Amino acid sequence: MREKSRSMTFQPEVDAALRARLTALCAEGWALWDRFDEEVRAHRFHPFVAAEYDAVVEALMAHRGPNLKFLEWGAATGVITIAADLLGFDAYGIELEPDLVATARALAKRYESRAKFVAGSFLPTGYRWRSRDGDARTGTLGTGESGYRELGYALDDFDVVFGYPWDGELELMVDLMNRYGRADAILLLQHVTDGVVAYRGGRSILT
Ligand SMILES: C[S@@+](CC[C@H](N)C(=O)[O-])C[C@H]1O[C@@H](n2cnc3c(N)ncnc32)[C@H](O)[C@@H]1O
Repeated sequence: MREKSRSMTFQPEVDAALRARLTALCAEGWALWDRFDEEVRAHRFHPFVAAEYDAVVEALMAHRGPNLKFLEWGAATGVITIAADLLGFDAYGIELEPDLVATARALAKRYESRAKFVAGSFLPTGYRWRSRDGDARTGTLGTGESGYRELGYALDDFDVVFGYPWDGELELMVDLMNRYGRADAILLLQHVTDGVVAYRGGRSILT
């Protein structure tokens, strides 16, 4: 994971009021992340690292449209799911750690967002990862009850899905989307070095 860009220069087509809310949300997200880094990550490993919020918001803008459902895998403090809601998506986040889910729900309330968060795993019940060379390790991904039942939706109900994989987890996320997502859905992945990359049907696409 690398040092993040914190610049906030959203596209001009976003109206001023929305731009101001997104900018405030991202700034609050960075403050939450800084506190989490100090209070938790300084003492023990934790897989929560904040994505490049401005780059993710730009990618969401490129893929927004009427009546689209958005899902964030590993939503942490909820910033990206809430941004998706503010941009007009019907937005949901699944996060394994209940304390982070509570933080995300509180943040959504402060932004009068309808984004919904559930505590659980974004891995569907029965999903098994195996890489091409047979490796079944899932990196930093934790285990727990799948969150889709509580969400009330399956992975193939979503039009746009976002994830921030650690090294070695990207292939798993692409595989998961291929096997359980809709063939025409977009998977947005935050790459450690290449920014946010969009995939459809298992292949990266230009946005
Ligand atoms: C790299 S962080 C990304 C956080 C957030 N999406 C962002 O980009 O700012 C990964 C998050 O996934 C969560 N997580 C790990 N395994 C998970 C699982 N199986 N299901 C749901 N969340 C998981 C971690 O607790 C962590 O908050």
